Amino acid sequence: MQSFSPTVSVVVPTFNESQNLPHLVGLLDKAMGDISWEVVFVDDDSPDGTWKVAKQLAKADARVRCIRRVGRRGLAGACIEGALSSAAPYVAVMDADLQHDESILPAMLAKLKNDDADLVIGSRFVGDGSSEGGFSARRAFASRVATRLAAFIIGRQVSDPMSGFFALRREVFETVAPSLVPSGFKILLDILASTRGQMRVAEVAYRFRSRQEGLSKFDTRAILDFLGLLLHRITGGTVSVRFLFFMIVGAIGLAIHLIVLRICLLGGFGFEAAQSVATVVAMTSNFLVNNLLTYSDMKLRGTAALAGLLKFYVVCGVGALANIGVASWLFVSNESWWIAGIAGVVVGATFNYTMSSIFVWRQQQN
Ligand code: GDD
Ligand code: MN
Repeated sequence: MQSFSPTVSVVVPTFNESQNLPHLVGLLDKAMGDISWEVVFVDDDSPDGTWKVAKQLAKADARVRCIRRVGRRGLAGACIEGALSSAAPYVAVMDADLQHDESILPAMLAKLKNDDADLVIGSRFVGDGSSEGGFSARRAFASRVATRLAAFIIGRQVSDPMSGFFALRREVFETVAPSLVPSGFKILLDILASTRGQMRVAEVAYRFRSRQEGLSKFDTRAILDFLGLLLHRITGGTVSVRFLFFMIVGAIGLAIHLIVLRICLLGGFGFEAAQSVATVVAMTSNFLVNNLLTYSDMKLRGTAALAGLLKFYVVCGVGALANIGVASWLFVSNESWWIAGIAGVVVGATFNYTMSSIFVWRQQQN
């Protein structure tokens, strides 16, 4: 029996890329020459059936593999799982949409093999690299701003820390994997931030192509994820991205609460009734926004969403009791009214977050 053990595993996250896959496999085959390789498509159950196309390709070619993830979304998380699924000594990550130039992969690998670097980035911004054509003017501007911001947290000069195209040694990846944030769009930035200064980084230029088939998944959500990742890293990894989102949603919920309270009072409700209506409205909107944003990668739908909402009411109810308990206790122990008030809110919100992550949107807290 012939055994197959690739030198490099090319990890490709996909979401609605069915038309691009056959083409990409052909291009990889041409580009890799005598390097033994495999490609791991990690598809988040794309509605266009990308995973079916990938598995069809896998039937005909042992070098093609596919992980179909269900009930989850996220580019970074997909890359992490794909890379962890293999044992090849080198891992490369690239997009499925043919925007990344596969022909530089051998040059990237050569740098790793010659031990010139631990991580090699396919860069649009060094030497002959270019991002013309690939991005709209607005997106190119956003990319420049983000690159500046990123320099803050990685503390080194890398020309393209936002690249989605890079290769690294397996040991390096296996070491950083547990500290990466799976919900984001920028996994390379996260790797650079969490290995701050400890890695030898090289860059290889390439020309960013424009997308031919399918649509970009870059959206407001990706921007929010990016800002969350920055805050997470600035705080030394102590504050989780999810927690930040949860708190922001809570603050918006407070504003909604006050607006509804005011409207009800103006509408002639008694205070108790008005406060009750405002509370239910705010809790409901908090649930909906958290479901869309904070937990977008494990969104509850249909009856699961209804059950989640009811559980969220219970969690928030208990959280409110904890809030009032802590605040009153501090107040009677002679703390000033505002310290007591803030401490109550912090305890209540943290309680809500922890319990929601356990009971409402079950999974690990990131
Ligand atoms: N599994 C999975 N889950 N894959 C995803 C998801 C997701 O939620 N969202 C996007 N993808 C896949 C896409 O199918 C594509 O193969 C790749 O991730 C990149 O997504 P695009 O939508 O094409 O992103 P982009 O072109 O706007 O930006 C990409 O290129 C930039 C330049 O290198 C990203 O890689 C950026 O991070 C990068 O800066
Ligand atoms: Mn793209």
